[in-house]
Amino acid sequence: MSDSQKREALIHAHEFRHATKQFDTSKSIDQADFETILEVARLSPSSVGLEPWRFLVIENKALREKIKQTSWGAKDKVMDASRFVIILARTAADVRYDANYIKTHYLDTLGFKPERVSGIRQMLEHFQRDDFKLLDDPRYLTDWAKRQTYIPLANMMTVAAEMGIDSCPIEGFNELEINQLLGAEGLLDGGNFTVSVMVAFGYRVNVPYPKTRRPVTDVVQWVE
Ligand SMILES: Cc1cc2nc3c(=O)[nH]c(=O)nc-3n(C[C@H](O)[C@H](O)[C@H](O)COP(=O)(O)O)c2cc1C
Repeated sequence: MSDSQKREALIHAHEFRHATKQFDTSKSIDQADFETILEVARLSPSSVGLEPWRFLVIENKALREKIKQTSWGAKDKVMDASRFVIILARTAADVRYDANYIKTHYLDTLGFKPERVSGIRQMLEHFQRDDFKLLDDPRYLTDWAKRQTYIPLANMMTVAAEMGIDSCPIEGFNELEINQLLGAEGLLDGGNFTVSVMVAFGYRVNVPYPKTRRPVTDVVQWVE
């Protein structure tokens, strides 16, 4: 493939991707394709490498029905989509600079030496307290973690589109109700996770509307 063909293929994937409103219930995503989507999520970057997320793949139809009751934006999609993912974010309890999760993540997952971990935690305290003022309210910390989850969200939808798989990101839910539901199901680790955003995957029924976007001159400003 030439460089220009590669560029065209990339743009094509982004034109192909649209917020799919109706999924074809007769079509299932190939397991290896879906595992590729999940692996892309897992490999996504996060601020200070915290990976403050978890991906719930909701297979249970009864649970999907309950999710539908709390999620107006998911409506039929949650029932019809081949795969339905709820992206959880870690809450303040896990992402505050002095949280046990942070310590064990740096030591065990990233393999850092203890002295390096204590330096990173000091740096993180400064960042959270002074630079981003995240310690002023626990919600700010949780929102910071939630922001990270939109990176795997986007990566998952892009790689899906590259494989010809449709998707729909979903924020149309009642936050309190969905957290109560998943908490009661024991899926939020006793409050260390909260729902951030959802995403449905499958295959379209309808031809999407032509894409409309603001002009490049409006959204890109070159600063010389
Ligand atoms: C974070 C996020 C949340 C969204 N929530 C919903 C939703 O709950 N239900 C829905 O049908 N579409 C939802 N959308 C789809 C947007 O409305 C859609 O992406 C936007 O209008 C652009 O259209 P396109 O994706 O087809 O290009 C969401 C999109 C994003 C990025």
